[in-house]
Amino acid sequence: MKQSPTVLLTGGAGFIGSHIAAELALAGHEPVILDNLCNSKIGVLDRLSSIIGRSLRFIQGDIRDVELVKHTLATHHVQSVIHLAGLKAVGDSVKEPLAYYDNNVVGTLRLLEAMHACNVRSIVFSSSATVYGNPDRLPLRESHPLSTTNPYGQTKLVIEEMLRDLHRSDSRWHICMLRYFNPIGAHASGMIGEDPNGVPTNLMPFVQRVAAGELKELPVWGNDYDTPDGTGVRDYIHVVDLATGHMRAMEKLESMGCEAINLGTGLGSSVLDVVRTFERVNGVRIPLAIKARRPGDVPACYADPSIAFERLGWKTQRTLDDMCRDAWTWQQFSATLGG
Ligand code: NAD
Ligand code: WQD
Repeated sequence: MKQSPTVLLTGGAGFIGSHIAAELALAGHEPVILDNLCNSKIGVLDRLSSIIGRSLRFIQGDIRDVELVKHTLATHHVQSVIHLAGLKAVGDSVKEPLAYYDNNVVGTLRLLEAMHACNVRSIVFSSSATVYGNPDRLPLRESHPLSTTNPYGQTKLVIEEMLRDLHRSDSRWHICMLRYFNPIGAHASGMIGEDPNGVPTNLMPFVQRVAAGELKELPVWGNDYDTPDGTGVRDYIHVVDLATGHMRAMEKLESMGCEAINLGTGLGSSVLDVVRTFERVNGVRIPLAIKARRPGDVPACYADPSIAFERLGWKTQRTLDDMCRDAWTWQQFSATLGG
C-alpha cells in the first residue's frame, strides 16, 4: 500500500523539532525524524509516542551523509523537508567556528544535494532573528538589513544566501526561511521541552534550574540598557506556537518561491518581565545577581510578525504566562527522567 507523503524533520529530536513532530502528527501529517543525537536524547521518542498515541519513524544519522539522506527521502516518499538540524550555541561558535560551518553550512549543502537528487524541492529552513544583527529600527521587519555578530549567526546568513541563489537558479524550488526570535516554554503535557547539556546559556532554562534549586541564582547580564527597566528585551515565543507556524509554512510551501518570514509575538519582554512572570505564575522565587553586560548582546530585539499572518494565516496564541507555566511543568517532569 502506497504510504502518504511524509515530511522529513532534520534535527527532529531536538527542542523545537520534537514539538514540531508532535504538532504535525496530531494534525494527521506523517513526520519522519532524522537526527544524529549530538544534542538530544533518544528518550524523547518514547515521550513523543505517548503524546501522539503512536510511534514515529526515526533514523539516527547525520545530514552530511548524502547516501543516507537520499535513501531516507526515497524510501519514505518524502514530499517536503523541515530543516532544523544544526548547532546553535553562539559562544561555542566563537570558539569553534569551523565545526559550525561544517555542521550547519556543509550539512545544509549535503541535504540540498540529496533533495535535488531525489527531486524533492520543498524546504522550510530554520533561520534566526540573529541574522538581523543589532537592529537599527524596531519592530524588526523581514526587509531589515541583514548582518551578524558571530559565526553561528553567519552560518544562518550563509545558508539563507545559498537558498536564495538556489531558487534563482531553479524556480521549481519552494523555500520558506523562518526567522525565529526567542523560543521558550514546552508542550503542555510537560513531557517534552528544552533540555540543554551543562549550565544553560539561554535565559529560560537558567530560570528553570534556579527555581528547581539546581542553580543558586540568576545572573542578570546588565541592567543599564536603554530599555524600560534597564534589562535586555526580547520577543519570547511559545515553542508550540513556533511549531504550528512551521506546520502552516509547510502546508503553504507549494505557493512559495523563496521567502523569509518572522516567527515572533511582536511583543518585547525584559529579563525582569520574564523573571517576575515566572515567579508569579509558578509561586517560586528566583534570586538575582546583577552582572555586567554579556558581550554580543543587543539591548532589544522583537518582531513585526505581520507577514506571517498575511502569508501563513498564523499568529501566536500563547502568552508569557503560558510559556512560564509550561516551562516549569517540563522542568519538574524532566527532573524525574534519567540522564
Ligand atoms: P536543538 O539542539 O535542541 O536541536 C537541534 C537538533 O539537531 C538536535 O537534536 C541535534 O542532535 C540535531 N543535529 C545537529 N546537527 C546535526 C547533524 N549534522 N545531523 C543530524 N542531526 C543534527 O536546537 P533547537 O533549539 O531545537 O534548534 C533547532 C534549530 O532552530 C537550529 O537550527 C537552531 O539554529 C534554530 N534556532 C533555534 C533558536 C533557539 O533559541 N532555540 C532560535 C533560532 C533558531
Ligand atoms: C535573552 C536575554 C540576556 C541568560 C540567543 C541566541 C540566538 C537564538 C536565541 C539560536 C538577554 C539575558 C540570559 C542569563 C540573562 N538562538 N540573560 N541571564 O541571547 O536573545 O538569543 O538564543 O538561534 O541566536 O543569541 O537569548 O536567552 O541567551 O538571552 O540576563 O543567564 O536574557 O542578556 O538579554 P538571546 P538568551
